[in-house]
Amino acid sequence: MKKILMVTSEAIPFAKTGGLADVVTALSVQLKAMGQDVRILMPRYYHIDRNSLKQVDGALGIWLGKGEEWTAVYEGSLPGVDVPVYFLEHERFYGRDGIYGHRADQGFEDNAARYSLLSRGAFQLCRMLHWIPDVLHCHDWPSAPACYLLKKEEQYRGFDKTKSVLTIHNLGYQGIFSLDDAVYLQPETDMLNLSTLEFAGALNFLKSGIITADKITTVSPTYAEEIKRPEFGFGMDGLLNYRKADLSGILNGIDYSEWDPEKDEYIKPDNFSEKRISGKNNVKKRLQQEMGLHVKQSTPLIGIVTRLVDQKGIRELFEPGTGAVYSICKDMNVQFVILGSGDAWCEAELTTLSKKLPNLSVTIGYNNRLAHMIEAGCDFFLMPSRYEPCGLNQIYSLSYGTLPIVRNTGGLADTVENYNQETGSGTGFVFDDLRPDVLYNVVRWVIETWESRKEHIRNMRKRAMRKRFSWENSAGDYLKIYEG
Ligand code: ADP
Ligand code: GLC
Repeated sequence: MKKILMVTSEAIPFAKTGGLADVVTALSVQLKAMGQDVRILMPRYYHIDRNSLKQVDGALGIWLGKGEEWTAVYEGSLPGVDVPVYFLEHERFYGRDGIYGHRADQGFEDNAARYSLLSRGAFQLCRMLHWIPDVLHCHDWPSAPACYLLKKEEQYRGFDKTKSVLTIHNLGYQGIFSLDDAVYLQPETDMLNLSTLEFAGALNFLKSGIITADKITTVSPTYAEEIKRPEFGFGMDGLLNYRKADLSGILNGIDYSEWDPEKDEYIKPDNFSEKRISGKNNVKKRLQQEMGLHVKQSTPLIGIVTRLVDQKGIRELFEPGTGAVYSICKDMNVQFVILGSGDAWCEAELTTLSKKLPNLSVTIGYNNRLAHMIEAGCDFFLMPSRYEPCGLNQIYSLSYGTLPIVRNTGGLADTVENYNQETGSGTGFVFDDLRPDVLYNVVRWVIETWESRKEHIRNMRKRAMRKRFSWENSAGDYLKIYEG
């Protein structure tokens, strides 16, 4: 049995901005089921209700360069599972709305301090609990510095048997700050020796982890290869090549207790399965009604649920004047239902588009119920990402027989098999270039298939629903990494 501490900025049901939150929780639940002693540490953001948690006796003093910060610790657990979740309580750093910023596109100015506190707090917490983990599993830039601190100092202070694993969920976010902020992670006497923390003249949290973690993983095999190349490396490709012997890709699973059309609470009473698909038509009808679209079974309905950021291909889809979706909606017999939040220009443009186009419905915001309805009720799900480390939505779509239309990159390439018009094989539609004209043509191909090869669509649906991306295999692969 391994003792594993997940250090993270997000975990469902407590805090989520994207797939990271789903993955940390689902992986922890599975590791627990496999007999591991797994625990989670995260900040107690303001919106996490203290009344549902219990305070751990004692406080943590955490040295943060310019002085010591005091934090209380609260303890809860993942719902229905005996996985302890520890929450760092710090009014000045976490007692505000928002996780990384008030808005998704603007980080808080003191994020370097906020997440240095989390990384340093991991070690203080373990000391207080008299529980020294075998594995410190860090996720993305917010906890990457814990890998650095382990190598730099904590291995000499009782953590000599602890190994670190850094999982990169998204290389596009690195935690880049002013070099002055290095003081939170490095004694001031050592400021001349910044090579591990510095990149291109700035402090870089993720880089510190890439250099120092014992093992590095990312969330799909294809992405693990892509990030060693300059087009996908965001400046880190050289270092990742240097670390390639310790770098691997483990595909995310999904939580089938939440994303299964047979059990999904949000689509009741129209639950369906591969063998009894009729409920899917009812969900489609309800979705069209709710979203103010013309209710018609024969019109293909395409869903999008996403953070509205460049990574997801929003420029090629929606940019005023050039984006593909406007012409698709004008020229083709199709409907779109879009749910998302993110970059301000895109939210505004989508709102404008929805007023101009009767076959496009837009909901700005975050809405889990609607995300389930869209996954279940649509015929197709569009995800034309520039890059995609894994992507969960296309896997949810497969589970609901909602055929994904995806770019040939990262986890999308690893989870969706392209349709073959000759044989009818495949589980979705895969294309290479991210350009508005390509998007336009792909959607036309999809609609033609929908109209003239109904049998192929029916069979692809069944095939998609039979695919399983469960956590058992992936958690087993993580265990192998932990064992070194
Ligand atoms: P990423 O982590 O890059 O955003 P993923 O596909 O891995 O992409 O995960 C996105 C997760 O966030 C999914 O669980 C998806 O359902 C959810 N999600 C994204 N945007 C919204 C939204 N506006 N409302 C509800 N859920 C959303
Ligand atoms: C990131 C990636 C996404 C991945 C998720 C969970 O946010 O953008 O592709 O599925 O993390 O690993």
